[in-house]
Amino acid sequence: MFYFCLVTVLFLAQQIGKSEAAESCFCAPMDSKNITKESEPLIKHPLKVLKDCGKEAEQVCLQLCKSLATLAQYDPNAGKSFCAQLNKNITNIHISIFSKVCDGEYLYTGLTFNKPLCCTNKKSVPC
Ligand SMILES: *[C@@H]1O[C@H](CO)[C@@H](O)[C@H](O)[C@H]1NC(C)=O
Ligand SMILES: *[C@@H]1O[C@H](CO)[C@@H](O)[C@H](O)[C@H]1NC(C)=O
Repeated sequence: MFYFCLVTVLFLAQQIGKSEAAESCFCAPMDSKNITKESEPLIKHPLKVLKDCGKEAEQVCLQLCKSLATLAQYDPNAGKSFCAQLNKNITNIHISIFSKVCDGEYLYTGLTFNKPLCCTNKKSVPC
């Protein structure tokens, strides 16, 4: 998943052998100022860690996204990695983290980054 590569790899490594997980959990960063039913995440990258697409999986996915995003807040390179994956320029965007299981709805994880983000030409720039 986007900017949490190391954490993700560690997490996935733990999962291997535990289950035959194949269903997708999406951790979706969105522009907190512009969230509607039609909103598309800024970056969409599935984590194939779920056994099914049920209610329980929804909670697992939400908690996972929340944990990963919480860790990313302390990663000094998070902004840089995030911008590198973005195909547009953004100015003063506060990122809100949503989770989604399979083809389900986006659920707000309760997490919005305090620090605004600015990206120009895939580079993180001061806001
Ligand atoms: C809000 O998001 C929609 C759909 O993603 C987009 O079409 C629209 O331009 C956005 N509005 C603003 C103010 O960024
Ligand atoms: C982003 O901003 C830079 C500098 O203002 C500009 O050259 C570039 O075309 C912009 N890219 C997009 C995708 O709008």
